[in-house]
Amino acid sequence: MEIEKNLENERIVITGGAGFFGSEVASQLSILGAKVVVLDNFSSGKEHYVSNLPNVYIVHGDVRNKELVGKVMKDAGLVIHMAALPFVPDSYYYPQEFFSVNVDGTLNVLLESMKSKSVKKFIHISSSEVYGSAKTIPMNEEHPTLPHSTYAVSKLAADRAVFALHKEHSFPITIIRPFNTYGPRITEPYIIPEIAIQLLDGKSEIILGNVDSARDFTFVGDSARGIILSLLSEEVIGETINLGSNYSVKIKELVNLMAKILDKQITIKTDKSRFRPYDVENLVCDNTKAKQILNWEPKISLEEGLTITLEWISKNKISFKSPFKSWAAAFKS
Ligand SMILES: NC(=O)c1ccc[n+]([C@@H]2O[C@H](COP(=O)([O-])OP(=O)(O)OC[C@H]3O[C@@H](n4cnc5c(N)ncnc54)[C@H](O)[C@@H]3O)[C@@H](O)[C@H]2O)c1
Repeated sequence: MEIEKNLENERIVITGGAGFFGSEVASQLSILGAKVVVLDNFSSGKEHYVSNLPNVYIVHGDVRNKELVGKVMKDAGLVIHMAALPFVPDSYYYPQEFFSVNVDGTLNVLLESMKSKSVKKFIHISSSEVYGSAKTIPMNEEHPTLPHSTYAVSKLAADRAVFALHKEHSFPITIIRPFNTYGPRITEPYIIPEIAIQLLDGKSEIILGNVDSARDFTFVGDSARGIILSLLSEEVIGETINLGSNYSVKIKELVNLMAKILDKQITIKTDKSRFRPYDVENLVCDNTKAKQILNWEPKISLEEGLTITLEWISKNKISFKSPFKSWAAAFKS
């Protein structure tokens, strides 16, 4: 296969490579024979997600540490920048920390990549959250960017900085915008693990926030493959590319599908204190550009992906550092 030949022995740095999404990218690249360097501070990432992968070397550290990032970039051929504070509700509590990691951290990794002289391409992992709630459906890369949360604003600021530096210095970058991604090795209490934990705890009443909001979900193996395909394409330089499935499901439909997979009878109860302030109501990807340029489209259906994810969650005892507290109360206590 062409992709294997081209990435074999390539030195690829993945920031945030021990996280949920990054560890899948690291795993696929390891299989393809690349020499992978994972740079992670393990704030949410887990060492054991990547420590047993062949050809994967782990560096502990912060993407804001100039000296360390400079050393990591020495002789790097390709960079996939995924390190970020990614969990929207946390950004209600720590907006400045989100800007520090997601914007300053990105600039540091990009500038050190540029200085290295060896980096041939920088892939910046953005997020569909930068679009805000859908104005038109489906959402292609020209959709207005009207981010809601400070997480989304920080991701958009990073996108624009990466794009501006690309234009100013002709440095080869690509911005990838994954829509909601799910699968094994989750690290954050995203909606799918939140539902799964309640279902697997045997609860018959599932308590959630806004179950009428809708998202476009893609299995992590598919999203990671899209990122890897972007490493090899010349056509993607300077481009922004969505990765998503082209349809959205309401959270209540997701709960019912997951309950069906587990053969459980449940009812859904909404708790107003769980509603996200200034929530995004709907995200639906238009992945035409990824199809055309990367020859990419998702292969795993939502039902198949959820089955794999539920199996992984039930085998691994998943818990999260911060138990639920009302998002809206961030500045009231
Ligand atoms: N999960 C999704 O649905 C989704 C969708 C779109 C985009 N993304 C983006 O994908 C990337 C990975 O997200 P994820 O869901 O895997 O989250 P994650 O928390 O599992 O991964 C983030 C990784 O970055 C590391 N990290 C955080 N701050 C760091 C720092 N200062 N220095 C070094 N490492 C640091 C964490 O330890 C973790 O391993 C993020 O950029 C996120 O914005 C995720």
